[in-house]
Amino acid sequence: MADFQSLSHQDKQQLKDSLQKRINEYKAQVLQLDMTRGKPGPEQLDICNDLLTCVDENHFMTGGGVDTRNYGILDGITEAKELFADFMGAAKNEIIVGGNSSLNMMYDIFAQLMTHGSSTDSTPWFSRKKKFICPVPGYDRHFTICQRFGIEMINVDMTEFGPDITMIEELVKNDGDIVGMWCVPRYSNPTGYTCSSEIVERLAAMPTKCKDFRIFWDDAYAVHFLNDAPDKLLNLLDACKKAGNPDRVFIFSSTSKVSFPGGGVAMLAASEKNCAWLKERLFAQTIGPDKINMLRHVIYFKDLAGILKHMKKQANIIAPKFTAVHDILTGELAGKGIASWTKPAGGYFISLNTLDNCAKRVVALAGELGVKLTPAGATFPYKKDPLDRNIRIAPTFPGLDDLKKATEVLAVCIQYISLG
Ligand SMILES: Cc1ncc(COP(=O)(O)O)c(C=O)c1O
Repeated sequence: MADFQSLSHQDKQQLKDSLQKRINEYKAQVLQLDMTRGKPGPEQLDICNDLLTCVDENHFMTGGGVDTRNYGILDGITEAKELFADFMGAAKNEIIVGGNSSLNMMYDIFAQLMTHGSSTDSTPWFSRKKKFICPVPGYDRHFTICQRFGIEMINVDMTEFGPDITMIEELVKNDGDIVGMWCVPRYSNPTGYTCSSEIVERLAAMPTKCKDFRIFWDDAYAVHFLNDAPDKLLNLLDACKKAGNPDRVFIFSSTSKVSFPGGGVAMLAASEKNCAWLKERLFAQTIGPDKINMLRHVIYFKDLAGILKHMKKQANIIAPKFTAVHDILTGELAGKGIASWTKPAGGYFISLNTLDNCAKRVVALAGELGVKLTPAGATFPYKKDPLDRNIRIAPTFPGLDDLKKATEVLAVCIQYISLG
């Protein structure tokens, strides 16, 4: 099919009529399909079911003799620290194993910074003017946290090598109100891009006017590869230490999309100084995390090799879904000059760009046809996509047939709306 721009008025009208026919057919099918959130599908959850039973009345003590049923150990049982230190490429004294949600840990650190300041400058954020760098398109919940705390957000483009580092260097060098930045460094939400070593090193070393600038490095998709050659990501904590900025970064991750979302284990890696700063807050906040769930994960996965083996099974379930979306988009849209999309080698999302000023109308039309998509704009701060073109596709939750149908509907909507 030719580029839409080269079509005559008559060709366009003919095409529009045939798309209208397909739209009417979809309407008649009364579809109810949902591609909104990046949740694992039930078959992904099923393969973890042994997690539900591997701790019982005979298995609740850790190897080190800790009774996980009782209070205590603020920063996680030793065995979980060992497992997840390996997972995060950090030392055991640079890791805190927390509760069931890394997002919760991120929010909590913002709250701590707001009320008590950082480990480097105890001036609370609430008394300072503050801005945050937000790679776009990005993860909506990160932006919600900034909005919640009244932090002005600055859009920086996410490129296939990571966030636009030249722009970031320029911004943070000159503006002392920029107190930090978000980044999903690996198989990013929603583009699937992974930061290059050069970008990691420049983020670690760049001069910042704000003396306690913090990078919130959300490695949520650390082991979520879809092929046999996982993306390599340079360790930002190591790079920061090498560059003389050891306290610059908090690295987050969780097993939400490894085991059970909401029933997994979250963790963070940071300098010893930042861990100590955080533990002081934890002491005031809780008497201890859910150690039983930590033990469950330790028994079930055993070690990093166990996690990777499990993720290979996950990839076998998910990869065909990503392939199906890509193939349908290619079949319906390639060569027409009306959309482009990423082809991630991992993670949970595909990022699609329509022509400018079309995304909202595409999502609305798909909704009318019974296909729910993440609202257009959600991948940008303040829910405002300046070009109104980005749509996040989440292929994991629907079954393969539903996913194929939903993608087909989406592709028809894109074509229909692109014709004006
Ligand atoms: C980039 C990113 N970070 C964090 C989360 C949430 O993680 P958790 O379940 O550990 O709070 C998600 C979930 O979609 C995500 O995409």
